[in-house]
Amino acid sequence: MRQKITVVGAGNVGATCAQELARRDYADVVLVDIIPNFPQGKALDMNQAGSVIGYEPRMVGTNGYEETEGSDVVVITAGKPRSPGMSRDDLVTTNEAIVTSVTREVVKRSRGAVIVVVSNPLDAMCHVAKAVSRFPRRRVVGMAGILDTARFSAFIAQELDVSVKDVTAMVLGGHGDQMVPVVSATTVGGVPLAELLPKRRIAKLVERTKFGGGEIVNLLGTSAWYAPGAAAAQMVDSICLDEKRVLPCTAYLEGEYGIRGLYMGAPVKLGSGGVEEIVKLKLTADERTMLRASAAAVREVVGILKRK
Ligand code: NAI
Ligand code: 2OP
Repeated sequence: MRQKITVVGAGNVGATCAQELARRDYADVVLVDIIPNFPQGKALDMNQAGSVIGYEPRMVGTNGYEETEGSDVVVITAGKPRSPGMSRDDLVTTNEAIVTSVTREVVKRSRGAVIVVVSNPLDAMCHVAKAVSRFPRRRVVGMAGILDTARFSAFIAQELDVSVKDVTAMVLGGHGDQMVPVVSATTVGGVPLAELLPKRRIAKLVERTKFGGGEIVNLLGTSAWYAPGAAAAQMVDSICLDEKRVLPCTAYLEGEYGIRGLYMGAPVKLGSGGVEEIVKLKLTADERTMLRASAAAVREVVGILKRK
């Protein structure tokens, strides 16, 4: 039997993620949004693309939640995106209300689902989804690290004029300006990045990664969606297909990396049970300091939440 994936929010990120998943053709996709006719129109369009691209037209668009019943995975992208000058954290109050109401609706009908949170501010919204759903930590996970790592990898590949496929990188910490690109774990064709570039040039790539979301907001007037949609779909693949990929995801830490009671980006093994393991990566003393600073920044935003 095909699995069922619900994507809530049929905007830029949600629609991109839904389309990526439809193309994979292993699951039925339900696309939910509050705007009348909007998810229905997008689903119809994506179903019609199936005959060109070669996948089964099994996407439903809806303004309600009945069709989401029994979902294996629910991706929450509902919420406001950033506009120029706005930080991810400015979105907290508006998106807390949205993620609260969406989570309530989805858990009523899909008690066993894994929730993948995308809405910003990401780390804080994971807290909201966990608190509202009362799901165990392994079944509420956030998407940010794959995106941040993709940006770091792309910048490294451009700088060195190599294929991005040969770059292995890792970005940990919160999905904010204090994220931690882990240079000590970054290699190109197996060669440590630190042996390929001088410190000064690496520092530039790290800075560009940290502000990579803002760079796109300044160009587009809204936040990115192609890479974020693809990143969320990669997490869904690993869960639905039980791939057990080790990916940088936002997970609830209970002492791992010296951090307790906080959602933060860490390498996790993602399988059918959701977060099956938080993988321990050896960090340098500087990286550990940066991770603590990132945790402090996330705690500040979580502190603003009505529900923690
Ligand atoms: P968008 O504005 O294109 O789409 C958001 C959709 O959510 C809209 O269609 C809106 O009608 C819908 N929505 C709002 N309230 C809703 C509700 N109560 N129920 C159902 N649908 C609702 O925004 P976009 O670009 O798709 O971004 C979505 C969210 O994802 C934003 O919060 C953005 O900041 C975040 N984001 C997070 C990333 C990450 O790395 N975690 C990367 C990119 C975006
Ligand atoms: C991004 O990093 C805004 O979180 C969004 O593109």
